[in-house]
Parts: sequence; structure tokens; C-alpha cells
Amino acid sequence: MTDKTATLGADGNNQAFPVLEGTVGPEVVDIRKFYGQTGMFTYDPGFTSTASCQSAITYIDGEKGILLHRGYPIDQLAEHSSFMEVCYLLVHGELPKRAELDRFTYTISRHTMLHEQLSTFYRGFRRDAHPMAIMCGVVGALSAFYHDSTDITDPEQRMIASHRLIAKMPTIAAMAYKYSIGQPFMYPDNSLSYTGNFLRMTFGVPAQPYEVNPVIERAMRRIFILHADHEQNASTSTVRLAGSSGANPFACIAAGIACLWGPAHGGANEAALNMLREIGTPVRIPEYIARAKDKDDPFRLMGFGHRVYKNYDPRAKVMQETAAEVLDDLGISDPVLDTARELERIALSDDYFVEKKLYPNVDFYSGVILNAIGFPTEMFTALFALARTVGWVAQWNEMISDPEQKIGRPRQLYVGATQRDYVPVDQRG
Ligand code: CMC
Repeated sequence: MTDKTATLGADGNNQAFPVLEGTVGPEVVDIRKFYGQTGMFTYDPGFTSTASCQSAITYIDGEKGILLHRGYPIDQLAEHSSFMEVCYLLVHGELPKRAELDRFTYTISRHTMLHEQLSTFYRGFRRDAHPMAIMCGVVGALSAFYHDSTDITDPEQRMIASHRLIAKMPTIAAMAYKYSIGQPFMYPDNSLSYTGNFLRMTFGVPAQPYEVNPVIERAMRRIFILHADHEQNASTSTVRLAGSSGANPFACIAAGIACLWGPAHGGANEAALNMLREIGTPVRIPEYIARAKDKDDPFRLMGFGHRVYKNYDPRAKVMQETAAEVLDDLGISDPVLDTARELERIALSDDYFVEKKLYPNVDFYSGVILNAIGFPTEMFTALFALARTVGWVAQWNEMISDPEQKIGRPRQLYVGATQRDYVPVDQRG
């Protein structure tokens, strides 16, 4: 805490409130006693100016386009780390030493299988069910199978639940895909890397051996790392809010998946590729730019803009490079990448986007890569959920261990009817 205070209030009842200082980033006015001292609430729909918690996991400087996990820049992690290393970093706070990494990787690999009975859940869904609908259901159902890791007051059980979630998510997502195309489920192969195993469970079949393509494996590793955490975004805040009531971790992560599905959040990767396909050719870009600028048209450029980044999303930079690399290495020429590049170029030189500081976000190029790898668009957000699970569990663990944690319970500005008396139905005018 600093010695600084902020004076807030109204009608002559001004009070001093402490100003808190993080290690980096804007100072924060501590308004916990605001209602008690002034009788007023603060109003901030969408939390544009409100810090809902303290956290030591991820830092974003939206003006400069900086993203750090436990202090490490995202581009360095995407370039040099394995996904298991990033998972360990997010959950435990430090990069692992070799023995720690080996133990962690081994532990995760021991939890990759699903309870066999869970496969019957899949058969209850229609074949055309969206994978995110299946993910919400199956992840929520984990709490009915793993009772020995739902006591959130026990740190060991919390860690087992975290390992299970990180380990089982690729199996769950791959099974959702297999079910949709009518192929047999593939059991995990723990001799492969986290991403290699996921690729095999998704694209392999039991009838023949599957060889992991190192180019695709590297791209998937990067995509997973780029999506691993992003501080207090909507789905992470949902996980924290659900967890603040003491709900079990599987239920909390299912809530996060439900929130992520929306097109303003994780669903944007699917929406962005659909949009790029709809545009089809660079010639039609001006038409879509005009629609995005038209106040009377609800259309937005998907994969563009961000609540926090008012500069190029550092994840989009790595994603753009990866898209070019993957297409090059796989010898694919995809007109969608040309459309995306041209759309970015035109938007970034247009006053509307410049003034509003709207840049490509992580979802703008990810669809191009995932499409080249062979994923159908419906799987894109499921992959985001898979990768974000580690961020969710790290944030959930941090919240449970925070002595200042309380049940999340926002207040409101009530604008409804004032008190009135009940009128029997036949006497209502
Ligand atoms: N296309 C056209 N105009 C836009 C866009 C866009 N993609 N994004 C924002 N604007 C305009 C918006 O109309 C508003 O204009 P005005 O001030 O004249 O009303 C202004 O920019 C500010 O937008 P906002 O909606 O108030 O900003 P927000 O912080 O509430 O929304 C956002 C952020 C990400 C929801 C929004 O930019 C958006 O809808 N983008 C498209 C969806 C998308 O790509 N989402 C993925 C986000 S990154 C990954 C993730 O978090 O999952």
C-alpha cells in the first residue's frame, strides 16, 4: 500500500480511500469500505475500471501490447517453452527445474484417461452437437466421477483436480471431435508429448499407426501456449465467481467453458474464419470494412479489437508468423490467409480503426492455422478451452488460497418499480 489516498464521495461527504500499488501497472483505489463510509455504490458494468481481485499470474499492458506470464514475455515462452513448462509456470509460479518438469509431465500423463463410463455421455449427444456443448456437459460431469478431488479446502485435492483437468481436457476435446465424425474414440498415448497425444487422439484411427507431424506439433504447442492464460477475462472471471461460492473445480471450469463459447470471447476464432471465408476475396474487403464502421449494422470485424489491448495483441503477432510457417511447411496455399493479411492492412490504415485503436487479436489468425491443420471450425473454440484450462485452474487455485477471497456478490443500480401493492388478477386495469 502507498501513503496515497483518493478522495471520493458526494454532497459534502467526501472520504479518503487507500490507494494500492501493484508491482507494475496502474494504481488501484481500494473502495471496499466505500458503501460503509458513504452509503453509495460504485457503478461499472463490464468492469472497465474495476480490479476484481489481486493476482500474481499474468500481467497485460494493453497500451504497449505486452503480455507476461509470471513475468515472462509471451513471445519468449511461445518460442522456447514446452506447453508443460508453461502449465507448471502458471500453476506453481516459477519455471520448473528439469526434475520438477519431468515429474509434472509424468503426473499429467498419468491422468490423461477418462473414466470409461464417461464415454456413454457422448453417445447421448446428437452427432451434430457443437463440441463446446459437449465440453460444457462432460467437464461438468467430471465432478460426478472424481469425488476424491472435490474438497476445495484440501490443497492436495485441489492440485489433483488441477492435474486431472489439464490432463483430461485433450481427451475430452478429441472425443467430441471423433463423435461428430462417427469414428472410434482413441485412447491417449502417454509416450507422446501433450500436443502430439492430442493430435493422435484427434486425427489418428485405431486401425493404423499415426505419426505426429513435427511442424503441426510445433504449431499446436504455440497455439496452446498463446491461449494458456489472459488474466481476468470474462471466462476466467466466471471461473473465479463460480469458485467463490465454494463450487467444485470441475463445475467451475464448466462455467468458464460456457462463457468462453460466446462470439465476443473464445467463439471469435470460429467467427473470424467464417467471416474471412464469407469475404472470400480481397476485392470484397472494402464492403466489409464499411459494414464494420456502420453504426446501424451490428456486424463487427471478428478477430479485431480488444477490451485491454489498444495496440497490436502480442499473441496475434506470433499467430500471424505461425500461420505463414505452417502453410509454407505444409505446402498449402490458402486464399483465406491472403484475405486476412489484406484485411489487416486495410483496417490498420483506416481512420475508424486507428482512432478506436482496433488491432487484430489472437483469434484473427488462429483459424487459418487450425483450418490448415485440418480442424473443422466448430472445434476452434474447444481448442481454446483446452489450452485455457491451465489458466483457469491456476487462477482458481490462487483465488481459493487468497485470504482476502470472499463470495463474489456485485451490487446494482436499481431502476425498476418502487414498492407497490399486489392487485388480484381480475382487478388489473
Ligand atoms: N469491428 C468494428 N468496430 C469495433 C470492433 C470490431 N471488431 N470492436 C470494437 N469496435 C468499436 C465499437 O463499435 C465501439 O465503437 P463506439 O465507441 O463508436 O461505440 C468501440 O470500437 C469500442 O468497442 P466496445 O465494444 O465498447 O469495446 P469492448 O472493450 O467492450 O469490446 C471486444 C471488446 C473484443 C468485445 C470487441 O472489440 C469485439 O466485439 N471484437 C470482435 C470480437 C472478437 O474478436 N473477440 C475476441 C477478443 S480476443 C480473444 C478473447 O478474449 O477471447
